[in-house]
Amino acid sequence: MADFARPRGTYDIKPSETPAWQAVEDLARTLFSHYHFEEMRTPIFEHTEVFERGVGDTSDIVQKEMYTFVTRGEKSVTLRPEGTAGVVRAFVENKLYGGPLPAKLWYLGPMFRYEAPQAGRNRQFHQYGVEVIGSSDPRVDAEVIELGARFLLEAGVADARLELNSVGCPVCRAAHRAALIAHLAPIRGSLCADCQGRFEKNPLRILDCKKDRDRPEVKSSPRITEYLCADCQTQYSAVKHNLDVLGVSYVEDSTLVRGLDYYTQTTFEFVDDRIGAKSTLLAGGRYNGLVEQLGGPDMPGIGFAGGVERLLLARAVQEEEEGAAKIDAYIVTFGSDLTIFDASLRVLSLLRKAGVTADLDYAGRGVKAQMKTADRLGARVAVLLGDEEVANGAVTLRDLMTKEQNQVSEDACVEAVLALLSR
Ligand code: HAM
Repeated sequence: MADFARPRGTYDIKPSETPAWQAVEDLARTLFSHYHFEEMRTPIFEHTEVFERGVGDTSDIVQKEMYTFVTRGEKSVTLRPEGTAGVVRAFVENKLYGGPLPAKLWYLGPMFRYEAPQAGRNRQFHQYGVEVIGSSDPRVDAEVIELGARFLLEAGVADARLELNSVGCPVCRAAHRAALIAHLAPIRGSLCADCQGRFEKNPLRILDCKKDRDRPEVKSSPRITEYLCADCQTQYSAVKHNLDVLGVSYVEDSTLVRGLDYYTQTTFEFVDDRIGAKSTLLAGGRYNGLVEQLGGPDMPGIGFAGGVERLLLARAVQEEEEGAAKIDAYIVTFGSDLTIFDASLRVLSLLRKAGVTADLDYAGRGVKAQMKTADRLGARVAVLLGDEEVANGAVTLRDLMTKEQNQVSEDACVEAVLALLSR
């Protein structure tokens, strides 16, 4: 039977949705040119070698996510899974290294990866991105990262967390690789099939493996940041200093190794925990060996790319949260004992009578989920009720701003909540 449905992992952008897409495209055009970037458009498919050599043959992308086919001329071509390798290929092929440097290029367009589809993870998706080729100045790293932060902010996403790391250069990587292999050797046989393959070739990627990264032996692995050579250490410190100068806040994460093989030194991701499993909105890093690997001169580069779909998703979640009516207090129950439920109803009613906007969970969700709801609803106080509180005829009040908590008797609860709200 004919199947006329769209392929899994793809979607139609309907007329009601195109204005939001056009706004992101307009922002890319104006903001990137404001930072003196020029647009580069490359083909949607390239010779497969571009990605095999560029993205790297130990990456998930090359190993299992590429749409590759053989043309009538019997050449293997691949729908681009990302933008960097194609832009660098074009930079080399068009000899842009002979022009003014660094070259500052931006792009926007569809990319293709054969991944398991879910919210924010598609098989055809769209990336906006920038690449700066021809400078290793750590001010460029900071400029690129600040541009990423600014893009997200201007697109309407507040609160994305910037995670930062340095993965060093081939010199420090060799020392780290030896230490990592020695550390992980005892559990080699029990690593997932992918990590067994990576063990010799690129053990750093094991730290990033969805299946193995939470194992205690992997978590306690030697960190690349402890092995950085003097040059990479100086570069990393300068990048952090420049970010401080620009007022961009970040958290260091020595496990951030990224899933593509071309990275050297600076790596970074902007993460938004609100949009579920795939939470990275925008990511990138330095790739000082890539231009040479694709046949060009020995020239450094750095860039980032962000997914348009994830950006729109994050903004939708945020708008929903902002639009939700705020409350003062949220009652969180531990357990489903009737006495706890009775106490929660009594306290809820007392608070409401005193003019406090309050609510509680009727869906029987776990404590963590209830606390999350309290946060999402903007509650200042969580009123915690469990066996201990009920036995004491008391409630525990948690100030969600200062995170302080203390127990007060049920009778004194309203007064204590009012005092907290007036602080
Ligand atoms: P990446 O981390 O593979 O890096 O992808 C960058 C961003 O593209 C992700 O953070 C995410 O927002 C979006 N993205 C990736 N895969 C999907 C998918 N299947 N569905 C929806 N969105 C997705 C790169 O691609 C590098 N080229 C970034 C870079 C540029 N590094 C240096 N320059």
